[in-house]
Amino acid sequence: MKVAILGFGTVGVGVYEMLEKTPGLSPGPVLVRAGKVDAPYKTDDLDRIVSDPSVWAVCECMGGVEPAFTYAAAVLKAGKHLVTSNKALVAAKGPELAALAEASGAGFLFSAACGGAIPFLHNLQLAAESDDIQSLGGILNGTTNFMLDSMQTLGVDYADALREAQALGYAEADPTADVSGMDALRKIMLGCATAYNLLPTEGLCREGIESLTAADVKDLQSRRLVCRLLGRAGLTDSGRLFAYIQPVLVPDTAPESAVRKNFNLAYYVGKNAGLIRLMGQGAGRYPTASALLRDVCDLRRGARSMMRADCQRVEADNSLPVCRYYVRLPKDKADALRFESLIEDGETVRGITDTLPVIRMHAIAEKIRGEGCKLFFAALED
Ligand code: HSE
Repeated sequence: MKVAILGFGTVGVGVYEMLEKTPGLSPGPVLVRAGKVDAPYKTDDLDRIVSDPSVWAVCECMGGVEPAFTYAAAVLKAGKHLVTSNKALVAAKGPELAALAEASGAGFLFSAACGGAIPFLHNLQLAAESDDIQSLGGILNGTTNFMLDSMQTLGVDYADALREAQALGYAEADPTADVSGMDALRKIMLGCATAYNLLPTEGLCREGIESLTAADVKDLQSRRLVCRLLGRAGLTDSGRLFAYIQPVLVPDTAPESAVRKNFNLAYYVGKNAGLIRLMGQGAGRYPTASALLRDVCDLRRGARSMMRADCQRVEADNSLPVCRYYVRLPKDKADALRFESLIEDGETVRGITDTLPVIRMHAIAEKIRGEGCKLFFAALED
């Protein structure tokens, strides 16, 4: 069975190599950018792939929404199965692709788009069929986890940690998506689509790790706290969907603090199953390629779409989940929040807030930054 590949970057090369070694599968043509065709198996013409009857499935690993969406749509319209690791594509155009897959009878799997090598969406989909998923989330970005780990355990500074994550092939082409929390947020969106058939596109709260400084890390270490970037989503008792990404502080003995380097820790809570955690490499050439190959093999076993064509886009409501926060901000802005404890350090204060809604903390941070001031905040995991 021939599997064509769209995109020949970090992940595409890994998929090609793995296809060569997987019994029953072989690499088909590889789509590259115009001017980059330097071998007979490479092409810059998508038609060569969609019109090739020997191509059974296509792995899309280009990244970005366009031209990936145009190409993915053409693949599905041609009735060929599509597997993708492209979170931006599925978060933006998942329902449209699911509808095309349903219409042509082609498969559309994207477990590689969330959690790298971890079979998270795959298991979440199965669990959602047999249990009520109360919440889901976890550490879902390998780049930021690698950076946080390097900053905390090795004292590496932010810029060097990011450079190393890029060199190791963990970061997106534009790493802003990683450090801003956007990449992890897209993965949470895919989790919601899988668990609830709801794709939250509005009302999401997102805070990345861009504001974390070496001084923050030092202060957190003195409190025996470890910073991780965590996503959470779920349904409230009234059936409203919440979904957000933010830095979270956990005790240095917590399971999340043992998630090192490029690893992810994804979880869901089933009403009957309780808490299920899955851990593994969340980014990198072979971890991600292995997830794509796993989806290809799942297609071979008869699996079809991971998203329903009637998946509804909805607005998230983050007014119900509440947290206490660790906040570092200028002294003259401290009255924007109510603090349980506060330590002054010159013109800066660091404190622990009372419990407040997630949406409120994110709005206060946006307002303070809008006034030209710097601030770092992270939720406290009790
Ligand atoms: N840039 C992503 C990450 C790649 O660091 O998690 C895997 O999705």
